[in-house]
Amino acid sequence: VTDTLRFGLIGAGAAGSVHAANLARRIEGARLVAIADIDGQKAESCAGEHGAEAAYAGDAGLLAHPGLDAIVIATPPEVHGGEIEAAATAGLPIFCEKPLERTLARANDALAAVEKAGVKLFIGLNRRYDPHYLHLLEAVRAGKIGRPLTVRLVALDPVEVFGSTPRPPGDLFLSTTIHELDFAELLAGPLESVYAAGGVMAGGDGPVIDDPDTAITLLRFESGATGAIDNSRISAHGYDQRIEVLGTGGMAEAGNLRADDTVRTDGEGEHRAGPLYFFGDRYRRSYIAEMQAFVDCIRQDTPPQAGPAEARRSLVLALAAAQSYREERPVRISEVG
Ligand SMILES: NC(=O)c1ccc[n+]([C@@H]2O[C@H](COP(=O)([O-])OP(=O)(O)OC[C@H]3O[C@@H](n4cnc5c(N)ncnc54)[C@H](O)[C@@H]3O)[C@@H](O)[C@H]2O)c1
Repeated sequence: VTDTLRFGLIGAGAAGSVHAANLARRIEGARLVAIADIDGQKAESCAGEHGAEAAYAGDAGLLAHPGLDAIVIATPPEVHGGEIEAAATAGLPIFCEKPLERTLARANDALAAVEKAGVKLFIGLNRRYDPHYLHLLEAVRAGKIGRPLTVRLVALDPVEVFGSTPRPPGDLFLSTTIHELDFAELLAGPLESVYAAGGVMAGGDGPVIDDPDTAITLLRFESGATGAIDNSRISAHGYDQRIEVLGTGGMAEAGNLRADDTVRTDGEGEHRAGPLYFFGDRYRRSYIAEMQAFVDCIRQDTPPQAGPAEARRSLVLALAAAQSYREERPVRISEVG
């Protein structure tokens, strides 16, 4: 491995563009050299914008690009498994966006390929690197609020981001709730069961057994603590991200980040800026920190903080929530894996 790692990126969509910009400019010891997307024009324009030397249409050609040291996968979940297997076979360390895959069977195959090849796999659970949430996590873990009794995580996406895009059944849980499930376990230990209810509310017709745009997932931890995750893709007030933990000795809260914290009061009431609107803005520092951590763990040959075990566990939790929603009953995590 050379001093500066040469990166290939697969998938130049919303998440891929964030990683491309960071790799090109903000990550020490990394250089973005090649980009692939099934849409060749997207690959071309992303490569042009971020100074990569090559663009490929599809995901096959990229791995043969000369001198690659690492791969970032930011394609839709159902192609992650095949791409992980191919990159592992090529002997390259892999950063893969969450979720690991859409099914546990495909995830297990991908993990087997990673283990066989002996390459590093790093999963993009970026909340683990968010300085704002890390302050709260550190306080809870240091026992500053005593023993956690309840945790509440809120993650609402603005309607423009996902509103009209059809998604496979259960996608809300695999794409969004997965972050909160993962963070909930960091806060309060292993989950025993989840119970999700929601519906396709945007159309106004109430619950439909498909991919809900809005859901609440109730949590039961092995410790006996309880929790709830609120998710929606129709948040008219922006990208709303909050955590609240009640403990035996107090409470910890991480609220929304705003572009401007001024509160102006006039005859009509109090006014201030809403939450940062785009996920790339709210979690900007976490995307940089997670990619820097990936680069550092390759260069220093240390294990990833969120590697194969965390990738699989978070998928299991999300699949349990999706199953609970589908079957309208609480699901024990051990039923899934
Ligand atoms: N960590 C986060 O906060 C975060 C935020 C957004 C998305 N994501 C994750 O990133 C991944 C991508 O999501 P997105 O929102 O960027 O989706 P997107 O649809 O915006 O982008 C996906 C890109 O992959 C391309 N693509 C599809 N199939 C391909 C293939 N076989 N080979 C090459 N390219 C292919 C598409 O053309 C598209 O450009 C998902 O796993 C998603 O869950 C994570």
